[in-house]
Amino acid sequence: MPAGAGYLPSASLDEYMSHTAAEHPALHGLIDSARARSPRLLKALVSVTNEFDSDETGRGDSYRRAQRDASVRWTGARQLLQLATRTDSPGDVILLDVLGGDGTIARAVADRADNPLAKLYIITGDISGEMVARALALGLPAVRQSAEALLLRDASIDATLLAYGTHHIAPADRPQAVREAVRVVKPGGKVVLHDFDTASPMARFFTEVVHPHSAAGHGYAHFSRAELSALFAELPVSASVLDVYDPLIVEADDRETACARMCRYIADMYGVQEVFAAHRDTAASWAFLEEIFDHSRYAAELVDAPPGVPHRPFLYESGGRWFAEVPRMAIVAVAEKRA
Ligand SMILES: C[S@@+](CC[C@H](N)C(=O)[O-])C[C@H]1O[C@@H](n2cnc3c(N)ncnc32)[C@H](O)[C@@H]1O
Repeated sequence: MPAGAGYLPSASLDEYMSHTAAEHPALHGLIDSARARSPRLLKALVSVTNEFDSDETGRGDSYRRAQRDASVRWTGARQLLQLATRTDSPGDVILLDVLGGDGTIARAVADRADNPLAKLYIITGDISGEMVARALALGLPAVRQSAEALLLRDASIDATLLAYGTHHIAPADRPQAVREAVRVVKPGGKVVLHDFDTASPMARFFTEVVHPHSAAGHGYAHFSRAELSALFAELPVSASVLDVYDPLIVEADDRETACARMCRYIADMYGVQEVFAAHRDTAASWAFLEEIFDHSRYAAELVDAPPGVPHRPFLYESGGRWFAEVPRMAIVAVAEKRA
């Protein structure tokens, strides 16, 4: 893309629109140019600096370093995509990943050519100009927009996904973000909203580990099941809330490397390198993960816990490869827009 400035770190809105028309015509046709050209909306967007821009503003660079391996959250991402696109022909389905970063989910799907989900047309959205610029540089259809003011046309796509960071949307703005997610899907289309229960070990991890030890802190409120249901209650949708097993899984040649790779992934993803640096060795880091990601008590109290899933971090060998698996349990609202 030519060098400019404004909408993206080095591209004006006009330059972005020309690039999209040439490289991603399907996305270009979905953008509502009146919304995209609204001075109020554009001003609000470009005045935003967020922690995912870079390590200087928070943890952007280290987060992207962790996400180079887009397969780590595939188990959960696959389930979210299936919930959002229940259809026999995902090839016809357009899905917007609202908090898409630099396209982790789109890249994870593209790596699974044998999976029918690889036929999905995934649009990566994000409020961070840096994230969107990187997704575009990777050849992905991507749009800079905030969850609360999407640039897509009414009833233009099949599914909207709000996942892996929905807690970054302030509680007061969540109803608007959900209204927008519903606005852009066609009748019969799906909205899937994923986050972590305020009562879960994940919320504790963010409060006790990420907030005090990451550069930008993590003063974000997670979701209760009641809040998830209430967000959809007044909208023209049928919605339900379920529990989804959403682990982190890394693979390596041997046990020690799998263990070390998982520790590095978590340190980078959450910007908590100092926590791991303070541990005596990798075994101490792993013991820390076993304690903090222990979901056994939480899972025991769930009414509809996913069956047969591990509740504590573990290392195992399969097909001559070693895996480190760290459980995370998410709460997910699935809504279908009424015809
Ligand atoms: C934890 S990252 C997840 C990125 C990607 N989905 C992944 O899984 O790697 C959360 C993302 O949400 C974006 N974000 C935060 N608030 C947002 C908002 N109000 N609207 C759109 N994106 C937002 C951030 O810029 C960041 O890239």
